[in-house]
Amino acid sequence: MKEQLKEIQATFVQKLQHVADAQELEQLRVEYLGKTGVLKEILRGMGKLPKEERPVMGALANEVRDALEESIEGKRQELKDRKLEEQIGREWIDITLPGKRPTLGHPHPNSLTTREIIDVFHSMGFVLEDGPEIDTVANNFDALNSPPDHPSRDFSDTFYFDETNLLRTHTSPVQVRTMMKQAPPIRMITIGRCFRNDALDATHSPMFTQCEGLVVDEGITMGDLKGTLEQMVQLLFGPETQSVFRPHNFPFTEPSAEVDITCFKCKGAGCRFCSGTGAIEILGCGMVHPDVLEYCGIDSEKYTGFAFGMGIERVTLLKYEIDDIRYLFENDQRFTRQFRR
Ligand code: PHE
Repeated sequence: MKEQLKEIQATFVQKLQHVADAQELEQLRVEYLGKTGVLKEILRGMGKLPKEERPVMGALANEVRDALEESIEGKRQELKDRKLEEQIGREWIDITLPGKRPTLGHPHPNSLTTREIIDVFHSMGFVLEDGPEIDTVANNFDALNSPPDHPSRDFSDTFYFDETNLLRTHTSPVQVRTMMKQAPPIRMITIGRCFRNDALDATHSPMFTQCEGLVVDEGITMGDLKGTLEQMVQLLFGPETQSVFRPHNFPFTEPSAEVDITCFKCKGAGCRFCSGTGAIEILGCGMVHPDVLEYCGIDSEKYTGFAFGMGIERVTLLKYEIDDIRYLFENDQRFTRQFRR
Protein backbone atom coordinates (compact mmCIF):
# COMPACT_ATOMS: atom_id res chain seq x y z
CA MET A 1 0.00 0.00 0.00
CA LYS A 2 2.87 2.25 0.80
CA GLU A 3 4.21 1.58 -2.66
CA GLN A 4 0.84 2.37 -4.16
CA LEU A 5 0.69 5.72 -2.36
CA LYS A 6 4.19 6.61 -3.55
CA GLU A 7 3.17 5.65 -7.06
CA ILE A 8 0.04 7.78 -6.91
CA GLN A 9 2.00 10.76 -5.70
CA ALA A 10 4.58 10.33 -8.47
CA THR A 11 2.07 10.15 -11.32
CA PHE A 12 0.16 13.03 -9.81
CA VAL A 13 3.27 15.21 -9.81
CA GLN A 14 3.89 14.30 -13.42
CA LYS A 15 0.35 15.06 -14.50
CA LEU A 16 0.41 18.32 -12.60
CA GLN A 17 3.33 19.48 -14.71
CA HIS A 18 1.22 19.25 -17.84
CA VAL A 19 -1.75 21.16 -16.46
CA ALA A 20 -2.23 24.28 -18.57
CA ASP A 21 -5.24 26.04 -17.11
CA ALA A 22 -7.65 26.24 -14.19
CA GLN A 23 -10.10 23.85 -15.79
CA GLU A 24 -7.54 21.09 -16.24
CA LEU A 25 -6.33 21.68 -12.71
CA GLU A 26 -9.84 21.18 -11.37
CA GLN A 27 -10.17 17.95 -13.36
CA LEU A 28 -6.96 16.68 -11.87
CA ARG A 29 -8.08 17.62 -8.36
CA VAL A 30 -11.34 15.71 -8.76
CA GLU A 31 -9.48 12.74 -10.23
CA TYR A 32 -7.20 12.43 -7.19
CA LEU A 33 -8.95 14.08 -4.27
CA GLY A 34 -12.63 13.91 -5.27
CA LYS A 35 -15.25 11.69 -3.59
CA THR A 36 -14.62 8.89 -6.08
CA GLY A 37 -10.99 9.90 -6.58
CA VAL A 38 -7.88 7.71 -6.58
CA LEU A 39 -6.95 8.53 -2.98
CA LYS A 40 -10.40 7.71 -1.58
CA GLU A 41 -10.25 4.41 -3.45
CA ILE A 42 -7.00 3.50 -1.68
CA LEU A 43 -8.32 4.45 1.73
CA ARG A 44 -11.32 2.24 1.22
CA GLY A 45 -8.88 -0.69 0.88
CA MET A 46 -7.43 0.09 4.34
CA GLY A 47 -10.01 -2.09 6.08
CA LYS A 48 -8.24 -5.14 4.77
CA LEU A 49 -4.93 -4.24 6.40
CA PRO A 50 -3.78 -5.77 9.67
CA LYS A 51 -4.96 -3.70 12.61
CA GLU A 52 -1.55 -2.35 13.65
CA GLU A 53 -0.71 -1.13 10.18
CA ARG A 54 -3.83 0.92 9.83
CA PRO A 55 -2.74 4.05 11.81
CA VAL A 56 0.61 4.12 10.04
CA MET A 57 -0.98 3.87 6.64
CA GLY A 58 -3.68 6.38 7.67
CA ALA A 59 -1.00 8.90 8.62
CA LEU A 60 0.86 8.29 5.40
CA ALA A 61 -2.30 8.67 3.31
CA ASN A 62 -3.07 11.98 5.07
CA GLU A 63 0.44 13.16 4.38
CA VAL A 64 0.08 12.33 0.70
CA ARG A 65 -3.32 14.05 0.57
CA ASP A 66 -1.91 17.20 2.21
CA ALA A 67 1.01 17.17 -0.23
CA LEU A 68 -1.33 16.88 -3.22
CA GLU A 69 -3.56 19.67 -1.91
CA GLU A 70 -0.57 21.88 -1.37
CA SER A 71 0.78 21.35 -4.89
CA ILE A 72 -2.66 22.00 -6.35
CA GLU A 73 -2.88 25.28 -4.43
CA GLY A 74 0.63 26.18 -5.60
CA LYS A 75 -0.28 25.39 -9.20
CA ARG A 76 -3.47 27.44 -8.93
CA GLN A 77 -1.50 30.47 -7.79
CA GLU A 78 1.05 29.92 -10.54
CA LEU A 79 -1.67 29.79 -13.22
CA LYS A 80 -3.24 32.94 -11.85
CA ASP A 81 0.06 34.81 -11.90
CA ARG A 82 0.76 33.65 -15.43
CA LYS A 83 -2.66 34.81 -16.62
CA LEU A 84 -2.13 38.23 -15.09
CA GLU A 85 1.27 38.53 -16.66
CA GLU A 86 -0.12 37.60 -20.06
CA GLN A 87 -2.83 40.21 -19.66
CA ILE A 88 -0.32 42.86 -18.69
CA GLY A 89 1.72 41.86 -21.71
CA ARG A 90 -1.27 42.30 -24.00
CA GLU A 91 -2.58 45.56 -22.57
CA TRP A 92 -0.01 48.14 -23.24
CA ILE A 93 -0.20 51.75 -24.22
CA ASP A 94 1.96 53.17 -26.94
CA ILE A 95 2.66 56.60 -25.52
CA THR A 96 4.49 57.58 -28.72
CA LEU A 97 1.24 57.49 -30.75
CA PRO A 98 -0.06 60.95 -31.67
CA GLY A 99 -3.10 61.99 -29.60
CA LYS A 100 -6.65 62.32 -30.85
CA ARG A 101 -7.93 65.86 -31.16
CA PRO A 102 -11.63 66.15 -30.26
CA THR A 103 -13.48 67.74 -33.15
CA LEU A 104 -15.26 70.90 -32.14
CA GLY A 105 -18.67 71.67 -33.58
CA HIS A 106 -19.52 74.95 -35.22
CA PRO A 107 -22.72 76.94 -35.15
CA HIS A 108 -24.76 76.65 -38.34
CA PRO A 109 -24.62 79.87 -40.41
CA ASN A 110 -28.40 80.21 -39.98
CA SER A 111 -27.90 80.07 -36.22
CA LEU A 112 -25.29 82.81 -36.49
CA THR A 113 -27.79 85.01 -38.34
CA THR A 114 -30.54 84.16 -35.86
CA ARG A 115 -28.38 85.13 -32.88
CA GLU A 116 -27.33 88.32 -34.58
CA ILE A 117 -30.91 89.33 -35.35
CA ILE A 118 -31.99 88.55 -31.80
CA ASP A 119 -29.13 90.75 -30.50
CA VAL A 120 -30.17 93.60 -32.81
CA PHE A 121 -33.78 93.52 -31.59
CA HIS A 122 -32.86 92.97 -27.96
CA SER A 123 -30.87 96.19 -28.21
CA MET A 124 -34.11 97.91 -29.33
CA GLY A 125 -36.15 96.44 -26.47
CA PHE A 126 -38.01 93.68 -28.34
CA VAL A 127 -39.11 90.53 -26.53
CA LEU A 128 -38.51 87.12 -28.13
CA GLU A 129 -41.71 85.07 -28.52
CA ASP A 130 -42.22 81.51 -29.69
CA GLY A 131 -45.02 79.68 -31.47
CA PRO A 132 -45.75 76.20 -32.82
CA GLU A 133 -44.82 75.04 -36.32
CA ILE A 134 -48.19 73.30 -36.58
CA ASP A 135 -50.84 75.96 -36.22
CA THR A 136 -54.48 76.50 -37.11
CA VAL A 137 -55.92 77.77 -40.36
CA ALA A 138 -57.54 80.47 -38.20
CA ASN A 139 -54.19 81.76 -36.86
CA ASN A 140 -52.31 81.33 -40.11
CA PHE A 141 -54.93 82.83 -42.47
CA ASP A 142 -58.30 83.91 -41.01
CA ALA A 143 -56.94 86.15 -38.23
CA LEU A 144 -54.57 87.71 -40.73
CA ASN A 145 -57.36 88.96 -42.93
CA SER A 146 -56.53 86.56 -45.71
CA PRO A 147 -59.52 86.36 -48.08
CA PRO A 148 -61.07 82.88 -48.51
CA ASP A 149 -59.89 82.72 -52.12
CA HIS A 150 -56.32 83.93 -51.48
CA PRO A 151 -53.92 81.80 -53.56
CA SER A 152 -51.64 81.12 -50.56
CA ARG A 153 -54.49 79.10 -48.99
CA ASP A 154 -54.44 76.67 -51.89
CA PHE A 155 -53.72 73.00 -51.21
CA SER A 156 -51.00 73.16 -53.80
CA ASP A 157 -49.22 75.91 -51.80
CA THR A 158 -49.82 74.97 -48.18
CA PHE A 159 -49.31 71.70 -46.28
CA TYR A 160 -52.59 70.91 -44.50
CA PHE A 161 -53.17 68.17 -41.94
CA ASP A 162 -56.95 68.58 -42.10
CA GLU A 163 -59.47 71.42 -42.38
CA THR A 164 -58.26 73.22 -39.29
CA ASN A 165 -54.54 72.44 -38.93
CA LEU A 166 -51.56 73.12 -41.14
CA LEU A 167 -47.82 73.63 -41.18
CA ARG A 168 -47.58 77.39 -40.76
CA THR A 169 -46.67 79.16 -43.99
CA HIS A 170 -45.16 82.14 -42.19
CA THR A 171 -44.39 83.30 -38.63
CA SER A 172 -47.29 85.79 -38.67
CA PRO A 173 -49.53 83.46 -36.58
CA VAL A 174 -47.13 84.19 -33.71
CA GLN A 175 -48.05 87.87 -33.86
CA VAL A 176 -51.71 86.80 -33.70
CA ARG A 177 -50.99 84.59 -30.67
CA THR A 178 -49.08 87.40 -28.96
CA MET A 179 -51.83 89.98 -29.53
CA MET A 180 -54.43 87.52 -28.25
CA LYS A 181 -52.62 86.86 -24.99
CA GLN A 182 -51.18 90.30 -24.29
CA ALA A 183 -52.51 93.85 -24.28
CA PRO A 184 -50.44 96.65 -25.86
CA PRO A 185 -47.78 97.92 -25.63
CA ILE A 186 -46.32 94.99 -27.60
CA ARG A 187 -42.80 94.85 -28.99
CA MET A 188 -41.91 91.32 -30.04
CA ILE A 189 -40.00 89.27 -32.56
CA THR A 190 -40.16 85.57 -33.22
CA ILE A 191 -37.92 83.34 -35.31
CA GLY A 192 -38.94 79.93 -36.53
CA ARG A 193 -39.45 77.42 -39.28
CA CYS A 194 -42.14 77.84 -41.92
CA PHE A 195 -43.31 75.53 -44.69
CA ARG A 196 -44.60 76.07 -48.19
CA ASN A 197 -45.15 73.61 -50.99
CA ASP A 198 -42.34 75.13 -53.02
CA ALA A 199 -39.77 73.55 -55.28
CA LEU A 200 -36.31 72.91 -53.88
CA ASP A 201 -33.73 74.76 -55.96
CA ALA A 202 -30.89 77.23 -55.50
CA THR A 203 -33.21 79.95 -54.16
CA HIS A 204 -36.28 78.09 -52.85
CA SER A 205 -36.87 75.55 -50.13
CA PRO A 206 -40.15 74.07 -48.88
CA MET A 207 -38.84 74.62 -45.36
CA PHE A 208 -37.34 77.94 -44.39
CA THR A 209 -36.93 80.20 -41.39
CA GLN A 210 -38.66 83.49 -40.88
CA CYS A 211 -38.23 86.34 -38.47
CA GLU A 212 -41.41 88.19 -37.61
CA GLY A 213 -41.59 91.51 -35.77
CA LEU A 214 -44.57 93.30 -34.29
CA VAL A 215 -45.01 96.60 -32.45
CA VAL A 216 -48.42 97.73 -31.20
CA ASP A 217 -48.94 100.83 -29.09
CA GLU A 218 -50.67 104.19 -29.11
CA GLY A 219 -49.42 106.45 -31.87
CA ILE A 220 -47.21 103.96 -33.76
CA THR A 221 -46.61 105.24 -37.30
CA MET A 222 -44.98 104.24 -40.56
CA GLY A 223 -42.08 106.44 -39.39
CA ASP A 224 -41.46 104.02 -36.48
CA LEU A 225 -41.52 101.13 -38.92
CA LYS A 226 -38.99 102.80 -41.23
CA GLY A 227 -36.72 103.84 -38.39
CA THR A 228 -36.69 100.37 -36.83
CA LEU A 229 -36.03 98.52 -40.07
CA GLU A 230 -33.35 100.96 -41.26
CA GLN A 231 -31.58 100.54 -37.94
CA MET A 232 -31.78 96.74 -38.27
CA VAL A 233 -30.50 96.76 -41.85
CA GLN A 234 -27.51 98.90 -40.90
CA LEU A 235 -26.64 96.76 -37.89
CA LEU A 236 -26.90 93.58 -39.98
CA PHE A 237 -25.32 94.66 -43.25
CA GLY A 238 -23.16 97.67 -42.39
CA PRO A 239 -23.79 101.37 -41.70
CA GLU A 240 -23.69 102.50 -45.34
CA THR A 241 -26.48 100.13 -46.41
CA GLN A 242 -29.50 102.01 -47.81
CA SER A 243 -33.08 100.74 -47.61
CA VAL A 244 -35.79 101.45 -50.14
CA PHE A 245 -39.45 100.95 -49.23
CA ARG A 246 -41.47 99.81 -52.23
CA PRO A 247 -45.29 99.71 -52.06
CA HIS A 248 -46.61 96.17 -51.92
CA ASN A 249 -49.70 94.32 -50.83
CA PHE A 250 -50.32 91.93 -47.91
CA PRO A 251 -53.81 91.12 -46.63
CA PHE A 252 -52.73 91.75 -43.02
CA THR A 253 -51.04 95.14 -43.39
CA GLU A 254 -52.22 98.43 -44.83
CA PRO A 255 -50.26 100.17 -46.21
CA SER A 256 -47.75 97.44 -47.05
CA ALA A 257 -44.22 97.59 -48.39
CA GLU A 258 -41.31 95.48 -49.45
CA VAL A 259 -37.84 96.60 -48.48
CA ASP A 260 -34.85 96.46 -50.80
CA ILE A 261 -31.34 97.09 -49.55
CA THR A 262 -28.33 98.25 -51.55
CA CYS A 263 -26.49 95.26 -52.89
CA PHE A 264 -23.45 95.07 -50.59
CA LYS A 265 -21.50 93.16 -53.24
CA CYS A 266 -21.53 95.93 -55.89
CA LYS A 267 -22.63 98.77 -53.57
CA GLY A 268 -25.55 99.54 -55.87
CA ALA A 269 -23.70 99.53 -59.19
CA GLY A 270 -25.38 96.35 -60.39
CA CYS A 271 -23.87 92.85 -60.45
CA ARG A 272 -24.68 89.16 -60.84
CA PHE A 273 -25.76 89.01 -57.21
CA CYS A 274 -28.53 91.61 -57.55
CA SER A 275 -29.35 90.75 -61.18
CA GLY A 276 -27.97 94.12 -62.24
CA THR A 277 -30.48 96.15 -60.20
CA GLY A 278 -28.09 97.25 -57.45
CA ALA A 279 -30.75 96.30 -54.90
CA ILE A 280 -31.80 93.14 -53.07
CA GLU A 281 -35.26 92.47 -51.63
CA ILE A 282 -35.10 91.33 -48.04
CA LEU A 283 -38.43 91.69 -46.28
CA GLY A 284 -42.15 92.46 -46.29
CA CYS A 285 -43.76 94.86 -43.86
CA GLY A 286 -46.58 97.29 -43.21
CA MET A 287 -48.96 98.85 -40.72
CA VAL A 288 -51.08 96.18 -39.03
CA HIS A 289 -54.52 96.13 -40.65
CA PRO A 290 -57.23 97.38 -38.23
CA ASP A 291 -59.23 94.21 -38.89
CA VAL A 292 -56.32 92.11 -37.62
CA LEU A 293 -56.09 94.20 -34.43
CA GLU A 294 -59.85 93.87 -33.87
CA TYR A 295 -59.80 90.09 -34.55
CA CYS A 296 -57.20 89.80 -31.79
CA GLY A 297 -59.23 91.92 -29.36
CA ILE A 298 -57.24 95.15 -29.68
CA ASP A 299 -59.06 98.48 -30.04
CA SER A 300 -58.01 99.74 -33.48
CA GLU A 301 -59.28 103.25 -32.68
CA LYS A 302 -56.80 103.53 -29.83
CA TYR A 303 -53.86 101.47 -31.05
CA THR A 304 -51.87 101.17 -34.22
CA GLY A 305 -48.97 98.87 -35.04
CA PHE A 306 -46.43 97.77 -37.56
CA ALA A 307 -45.22 94.31 -38.53
CA PHE A 308 -42.56 92.81 -40.73
CA GLY A 309 -41.48 89.39 -41.90
CA MET A 310 -38.04 88.45 -43.16
CA GLY A 311 -36.46 85.25 -44.44
CA ILE A 312 -33.48 84.18 -42.33
CA GLU A 313 -31.92 82.05 -45.06
CA ARG A 314 -32.04 85.04 -47.38
CA VAL A 315 -30.05 87.11 -44.89
CA THR A 316 -27.59 84.25 -44.34
CA LEU A 317 -27.02 83.75 -48.07
CA LEU A 318 -26.37 87.46 -48.50
CA LYS A 319 -24.15 87.94 -45.46
CA TYR A 320 -21.93 84.95 -46.17
CA GLU A 321 -22.13 85.16 -49.97
CA ILE A 322 -23.49 81.65 -50.35
CA ASP A 323 -25.10 81.12 -53.71
CA ASP A 324 -27.28 78.08 -53.10
CA ILE A 325 -29.86 77.74 -50.30
CA ARG A 326 -29.54 73.94 -50.39
CA TYR A 327 -26.14 74.13 -48.68
CA LEU A 328 -27.97 75.39 -45.60
CA PHE A 329 -29.99 72.19 -45.24
CA GLU A 330 -27.52 69.50 -46.25
CA ASN A 331 -25.33 69.80 -43.15
CA ASP A 332 -22.24 68.80 -45.06
CA GLN A 333 -19.42 69.47 -42.61
CA ARG A 334 -17.13 70.67 -45.37
CA PHE A 335 -19.60 73.54 -45.63
CA THR A 336 -20.66 74.08 -42.02
CA ARG A 337 -17.20 74.01 -40.49
CA GLN A 338 -16.28 77.18 -42.37
CA PHE A 339 -18.49 79.18 -40.01
CA ARG A 340 -17.31 80.38 -36.67
CA ARG A 341 -18.80 82.86 -34.30
N1 PHE B 1 -45.89 87.04 -43.49
C1 PHE B 1 -45.40 87.71 -44.67
C2 PHE B 1 -44.81 86.66 -45.62
O1 PHE B 1 -44.61 85.56 -45.23
C3 PHE B 1 -44.33 88.70 -44.33
C4 PHE B 1 -44.89 89.87 -43.59
C5 PHE B 1 -44.99 89.83 -42.21
C6 PHE B 1 -45.32 90.98 -44.26
C7 PHE B 1 -45.49 90.91 -41.51
C8 PHE B 1 -45.86 92.06 -43.58
C9 PHE B 1 -45.93 92.00 -42.23
O2 PHE B 1 -44.57 86.94 -46.76
